Amino acid sequence: MTNLPKTPESARNVRRSSSIVSTGAYLPSRILTNADLEKMVDTTDEWILSRTGIRERRIAAEDEFTSDMGARAAEQALESGGIDPQSIDLIIVATCTGDTVFPSTACYIQHKIGATRAAAFDVQAACSGFLYALVTAEQFIAAGAYETILVVGAEKLSSLVNWQDRNTCVLFGDGAGAVVLRHRPGARGLLAFDLGADGAQTSILSVPASGCRMPITPEVIDQRLQYLQMSGKEVFKYAVTAMNRSAEECLEKAGVKPAQVRWFIPHQANFRIVDAVAQRMNVGMEHFVMNLDRYGNTSSACMPIALHETYMAGKLERGDLVLMVSFGGGLTWASTVLEW
Ligand code: ACO
Repeated sequence: MTNLPKTPESARNVRRSSSIVSTGAYLPSRILTNADLEKMVDTTDEWILSRTGIRERRIAAEDEFTSDMGARAAEQALESGGIDPQSIDLIIVATCTGDTVFPSTACYIQHKIGATRAAAFDVQAACSGFLYALVTAEQFIAAGAYETILVVGAEKLSSLVNWQDRNTCVLFGDGAGAVVLRHRPGARGLLAFDLGADGAQTSILSVPASGCRMPITPEVIDQRLQYLQMSGKEVFKYAVTAMNRSAEECLEKAGVKPAQVRWFIPHQANFRIVDAVAQRMNVGMEHFVMNLDRYGNTSSACMPIALHETYMAGKLERGDLVLMVSFGGGLTWASTVLEW
């Protein structure tokens, strides 16, 4: 292995760049406030706000599924980019709350948006899922295999949350975001990425039952093991270190200094985690895009929703550098640096 030749510069230069050419987002209309949660579990608005920064989150209707939200976000991205669904070659959906174990949520979305030419599959990397999916999509474009790829992050976490557990139920929300990725001649697009995982940490953030390890039984339901479980403090510590390291490695690969980045889009899990990452990177919080006060943690939907809102607010111009950094169950982490 040690004698393998290095990739020559000429080969690197022929790699086709991938740009995000349009974005979309969808949030369910029902708002669940901290005051509402006070009536459901033993908690207070003051505790939730001071420990997490979350004020409210959106909750999907009972008959509103992850694919419905993903399709709405995708339709918005297609419409704003003037993109025909028939031109989509591939749909990748990042989710850990798919409509069904199979078929994939990507297949449901393919049908809903009428993208009949597109191949479709899901990616599961919990909250890092969207960036894993984006980087996967980029490989197809770079290789010249596909021209137009729809990447969606969509979650109905309200279906995975134990609404009797105050340690977790205050943190999460539902929603979806989508981007369309294409080669844009003359644009540099995605400059670098960093993906990683630590499978030794599977137990600190997981849904223990419902897979083949622990099929659903009456006992499992009694113990509520089909819902998300988390060791909050351990995840917190790990998240700060992993996000910081991943972001720095990604910036280095891109040859970009933190001061050159216009927007840092971090995973929206906890304001204090983001604040700690910002301090370690010596970057002011005014450069960090935050929406967790309104939506809570929407897992793989966080990144595309935040990106879409930033663009819609007129805060993104061609040439701006954006760093996205995430972590989630697995544990997994991911970062990308892109030129808008
Ligand atoms: N209301 C009131 N009290 C609460 C609540 C609540 N909602 N939740 C927990 N508490 C109590 C606990 O029972 C505990 O009480 P005790 O000390 O008497 O046992 C105490 O508050 C816990 O306090 P801390 O440990 O100091 O809480 P901490 O500051 O660690 O904050 C939190 C907890 C918000 C969960 C934090 O640890 C965190 O954000 N962790 C990371 C979570 C995260 O990012 N998850 C990512 C999931 S992403 C994915 O892949 C799905």
